Amino acid sequence: MRLEHKVTLITGAGKGIGRATAELFAREGAYVEIAEVDMAAAEATVAAIQGNGGQASFARVDVSQESSVANWKDEVLRRHGRVDVLFNNAGISSVGALHDVPRATWDSILAINLTGVYLVSKAFLPTMMEQRSGSIINMSSSIVHTGLLRRAAYSATKGAILAMTKSMQVDYAPYGIRVNALLPGTIYTPFVERYIKESYPDPEEAVAGLKQRQLAPDLGTPEDVAYAALYLASDESRYVWGSGLIVDGGVTAGKPY
Ligand SMILES: NC(=O)c1ccc[n+]([C@@H]2O[C@H](COP(=O)([O-])OP(=O)(O)OC[C@H]3O[C@@H](n4cnc5c(N)ncnc54)[C@H](O)[C@@H]3O)[C@@H](O)[C@H]2O)c1
Repeated sequence: MRLEHKVTLITGAGKGIGRATAELFAREGAYVEIAEVDMAAAEATVAAIQGNGGQASFARVDVSQESSVANWKDEVLRRHGRVDVLFNNAGISSVGALHDVPRATWDSILAINLTGVYLVSKAFLPTMMEQRSGSIINMSSSIVHTGLLRRAAYSATKGAILAMTKSMQVDYAPYGIRVNALLPGTIYTPFVERYIKESYPDPEEAVAGLKQRQLAPDLGTPEDVAYAALYLASDESRYVWGSGLIVDGGVTAGKPY
């Protein structure tokens, strides 16, 4: 039990990487608190965890809305009185070269992917500072190192998250709070399925193309990232401070040809 009795918060855990992480954290003994906008998906994650003998709750939270985050904070702190791990995972994608990105899309992707990390972290940091402990995991992407076709707005948010992670780490180190980022490559989730449908006429050809960008033979699974999150959440990573952990099947390691 690598997270026994830990109170772990995960945003966007109704699907994909968040869901796999919620299930893994619960199997490792954590109490999992989920913030989601998709209630049916959040309910399904909690049912799966409870069906396995684990403990979890969910709330309807839009990470880009300060009042929604404030309500969640009150609920979580009323229930547990402490927070050990915060995984800022919720995010949306957007497709388009910069000149094609409508202002509304730009604003909404920044609001959810970046302002969401700011708002949720800001809400729970005072508790962690008082405890003088905590592990924050911010979801970035390997796109910050390589760039990717027609992903200008999305990559802007993920680059900002990596930079913010390092500055947060400097500020909160004196409180014993660790802040790290995760940089996944292509992980086959509903998010990527959507991206493929929006971007390519032939999905199979698209998947083959995505595989060519990496060294590993297969695309990543949500569990591949969940295990990295588990490491950063647990005390096993006690000496890992302000890092960006790459989980990308070798996309950023080098070209396969
Ligand atoms: N899948 C990949 O290849 C990949 C690669 C690198 C980084 N990431 C990042 O990992 C994170 C999770 O991605 P995924 O592939 O599991 O996505 P996903 O779409 O499968 O799941 C994301 C979840 O976040 C929720 N969500 C969206 N907006 C929200 C909001 N405003 N408030 C609360 N919840 C919200 C969605 O309802 C959804 O359940 C994202 O931040 C994404 O940018 C994904």
